[in-house]
Amino acid sequence: YEHGEGPEGGFAFDGAFGKWDMAQLQRGYQVYKEVCAACHSLKFVSFRNLRQLGYTEAEVDAEAKSWTVPGIDPQTGEATTRPGLPTDAFPSPYPNAIAAAAANNNAIPPDLSLMTKARHDGSNYVYDLLTGYGEPDPAKAAKVGFETPDGLYFNKHFPNVNIAMPPPLSDGQVTFADGTASTVPQMSKDVAAFLTWTAEPSLVERRQTGWFVVGFLLFATVLAFLSYKQIWAGLK
Ligand code: HEM
Repeated sequence: YEHGEGPEGGFAFDGAFGKWDMAQLQRGYQVYKEVCAACHSLKFVSFRNLRQLGYTEAEVDAEAKSWTVPGIDPQTGEATTRPGLPTDAFPSPYPNAIAAAAANNNAIPPDLSLMTKARHDGSNYVYDLLTGYGEPDPAKAAKVGFETPDGLYFNKHFPNVNIAMPPPLSDGQVTFADGTASTVPQMSKDVAAFLTWTAEPSLVERRQTGWFVVGFLLFATVLAFLSYKQIWAGLK
């Protein structure tokens, strides 16, 4: 298991003055929708939250409608499906955990809403994981008799090294609306940025508030010092 370093050049939101790159978040959403959503839900994110990524209300309505979510038949009370509404969350593709495990060699694809918080250095980790597939070093593997069992995949950045998630990305898999070339590192970076947003949509706002607070406290300190001078000016 190797510690990765995340994407080259880092993310737009890195650092105390970092900002979202809206075009990147939209590309990341596209990767989630066209690739990851086949197995992973985002149960804490609703379609209407996409407004924050720059989509209009009409676009969000249309987007929600293009998804199928679990519903209940009003006549019979039985479980069925219906088109999504803006208030619905991004659904799991499986009816339950047993079906999810059965489809994935007994591993359940986890909800991705908070994944970049659940894992250490999560934004970089998601990038590393998606770009970490390959073969183990043959010399090292031979030395310890290492094997990847059938149905699992070697991934040098997964703590367990053998992961039940098949490599989800390959070059050119999605066609980005903005014309960005969809290499595996590009799609990985964009979807890692998108999942950072799902886990903390207020990240940039929080930092801006922090800077405002620091500025205000400095100002208040100067004011307090000046009034102290003023009040005691006549007394020696
Ligand atoms: C696990 C991301 C696509 C099936 C995971 C994990 C992440 C992730 C972050 C958690 C790893 C951990 O526990 O540290 C993604 C992203 C995808 C994607 C960003 C799209 C680019 C898929 C697809 C499938 C899938 C298409 C199904 C074919 C799984 C399974 C696990 C998993 C079964 C559990 C693996 C285990 O615990 O061994 N995925 N995934 N994923 N994913 Fe995905």
